[in-house]
Amino acid sequence: MTAILDEQLIDDRETTPESLYLRWERQNWSTQDLTMAADRPAWQALRPFLYQELKAALVELAVGEVAVARLLTPLVYAAPTQAAQFYLSSQLVDESRHSIFFLGYLRAVEGAIEPPHAYALRCRAEASAATVELFDAYLLEQTERVRRDPDDRDAWYAAVTTYHVVAEGALALVVLRSVAEAVRRCGQLPVLAEGLRNVIRDESRHVGFGVWAMRHAVDNGRRQLVGDQVLDTIPYVVHVLVGPERRNPSALPMVVRARGRQLRDQWDTARDALLRRVRAAGLDDVDAQVTEVWRAAEERAVADYENRHGVPHPIRSLN
Ligand SMILES: [Fe+2]
Ligand SMILES: [Fe+2]
Repeated sequence: MTAILDEQLIDDRETTPESLYLRWERQNWSTQDLTMAADRPAWQALRPFLYQELKAALVELAVGEVAVARLLTPLVYAAPTQAAQFYLSSQLVDESRHSIFFLGYLRAVEGAIEPPHAYALRCRAEASAATVELFDAYLLEQTERVRRDPDDRDAWYAAVTTYHVVAEGALALVVLRSVAEAVRRCGQLPVLAEGLRNVIRDESRHVGFGVWAMRHAVDNGRRQLVGDQVLDTIPYVVHVLVGPERRNPSALPMVVRARGRQLRDQWDTARDALLRRVRAAGLDDVDAQVTEVWRAAEERAVADYENRHGVPHPIRSLN
């Protein structure tokens, strides 16, 4: 079935698919300009705690990027306007480039010998079950609905809300910024720092598109649909952020408290980022529900951590 284009959806506000596409042309970058192996000596010399943190985060990012590069394709084909389709084609390049960057970087600094495809499978096996569930089950199910019926506009807006606004806006961008900050503090991985800057710039455009799409959904009678979709996605994203499978490596009270504070900051930043985007899309009335669903999802994921490991989650040290 052919997707029909609704040209009347073209926006006159500042962030539009047209302006985002033009920004993409101006902000283009190349993974080939980054000499990834140059970071290898510093990577190999990282302190064990920082090494484990960074490696786990980059593996999760690589797995997410590989998944979204594939899952974006039905959304490009079924885009409601030609401008949205052209913009999404540029994003498809971005997600492939991000996959190539993260896989290439990890292979270079880890000295992996298997080809990228095999290395991607290894990363997937190492990623948390929550990440795999978000991308390979939840988001997959939504993009499959679009693939099966490209004219189902409800399915398209729901998938973009999950993909661009919640998964990219409240999860990917927040994790990327945390990793970039850790890399900045460590001061010894310049290639990773530059690659992360590029990826963050790209992801900001992607989230801008998500807000545009959600605003159109609201303007076109889909307020309830996208509001419900945000609430439905929150538990999946919070589960990834909390990551109940990974046990905090230290039992020292000072370290546990510092970890608790760091996580509290990160989760609050993610929730506030989501609230900002939801308001920007014209959905001011779901603030209280977003906050409540987020809080309940955090509580469940923290309880999951405590059941698995038999110790209080570091977040409890702040009480
Ligand atoms: Fe990406
Ligand atoms: Fe993205």
